[in-house]
Amino acid sequence: MKHLAIIGTQWGDEGKGKITDLLVEKEGFKAVVRYQGGNNAGHTVVVGGKKHAFHLLPSGILHSNKVCVIGNGVIVNPEVLAKEIKDLTLRVGKKHAQLFISEKAHLIMPWHIVRDNIGGGKIGTTGRGIGPTYTEAIARRGIRFYDFKDKKRFIKRVKEELVWNKKLIKLMLDSYDIPKANRDKLKLRTVLNEQRIINRYWLLVKKLKDNPLIEVGDVGLLLDKYDQSKNKILFEGAQATLLDIAHGTYPFVTSSSPTLGGVYTGTGFRPRDLEVIGVAKAYTTRVGEGPFPTELFDKVGDQLRRVGNEFGTTTGRPRRCGWLDLTILHYAKVINGLDGIALTKLDVLSGINPLKIAIAYQIGSKKNKNFLPDTEDLSKVKVVYKEFPGWEENICNVRKFSELPINCRKYVNFIELEVGVPVKVISNGPDRKEHILK
Ligand code: IMP
Repeated sequence: MKHLAIIGTQWGDEGKGKITDLLVEKEGFKAVVRYQGGNNAGHTVVVGGKKHAFHLLPSGILHSNKVCVIGNGVIVNPEVLAKEIKDLTLRVGKKHAQLFISEKAHLIMPWHIVRDNIGGGKIGTTGRGIGPTYTEAIARRGIRFYDFKDKKRFIKRVKEELVWNKKLIKLMLDSYDIPKANRDKLKLRTVLNEQRIINRYWLLVKKLKDNPLIEVGDVGLLLDKYDQSKNKILFEGAQATLLDIAHGTYPFVTSSSPTLGGVYTGTGFRPRDLEVIGVAKAYTTRVGEGPFPTELFDKVGDQLRRVGNEFGTTTGRPRRCGWLDLTILHYAKVINGLDGIALTKLDVLSGINPLKIAIAYQIGSKKNKNFLPDTEDLSKVKVVYKEFPGWEENICNVRKFSELPINCRKYVNFIELEVGVPVKVISNGPDRKEHILK
């Protein structure tokens, strides 16, 4: 019996949600666990032509026989969670998975969102309060589900944090020189109103706890119990390797650990027998700021964006698009110890001729096959490409690898060979059924 981790290999938006939703049933997993990130993520699952977009809920939520888990490494905006559950219930009734939330998880509070919207612009954050909430967790000032055990305790914590945050926000507004019109848009009087926050957040968390399909408790113990009883667990990463706070393209990163290490710190459970699948898009995309060596500014880039519908699920921002970069996949292999690759959106490449894959970076006269996580270095590289003849056919209806056009198979085989990791799953369309198991 093997547990499984599904991890993004690039800058996110690789299609991890679809792969999770697909494998959770096919491979008989009992639980789907998110271990980091918050509602900065956007996971889309399409079933029978119906689109479901999740930000916080694990992508296994559509399976009523499963348990979905939010680990301690995830930060929770209770307003977003309540809305996601309500919308889901409207679509599918009570036929969704049970939800188990770590009592150690931190909450995104209104002041975190305000701070992100004042200070996050420089790197193009999603503005959801992610960085400030993790900052506060590390600074030991966070508010966790534990703090909702008792109303007095919760009120005390909100009061303490509001005093501090109001001072901090004033300082930020002054030092970032925010014009009055933009300050007004923040609606600070309403958003930071003490009584409003106390009433709203207490009620939101109470409602979550009162929901018979939701439990708040110890995730480490729950997962250990599943492990002991031979129930398989799937760990679903959000964001990706190059957005990892330690291993990503710092400072253009998120504030959590999407890479394999995050599974352990974000759940309190050590999976002993674990397979790691890296999800890689057949090309590369990135949202927000930061260097992107294979970025395309031409018609091909536009085509990838249009055909691949490369617009953020969370913010709607157009994604930057470029060629596949194998230095990145190799880097993701090393950091996460990949056992396999799930190659997504291969269908988007139909009709592009020739195709290019980055195989190395050139700095001066030196060729380097390693990715360069230092953004200063990364912004200076010249990319070394290998060209491939494309294919014209629409491949969405193909269900066997051997039935893909020869040039398409050559493209996939080259990735496998060069990265040294087998491509185990190919996704060739947005629907759950549009995939090939290799
Ligand atoms: P934050 O996570 O909102 O703090 O944003 C930090 C950086 O990570 C920004 O460049 C975001 O665009 C990027 N980011 C965060 N979540 C995602 C995601 O799910 N997909 C792609 N990029 C993301």
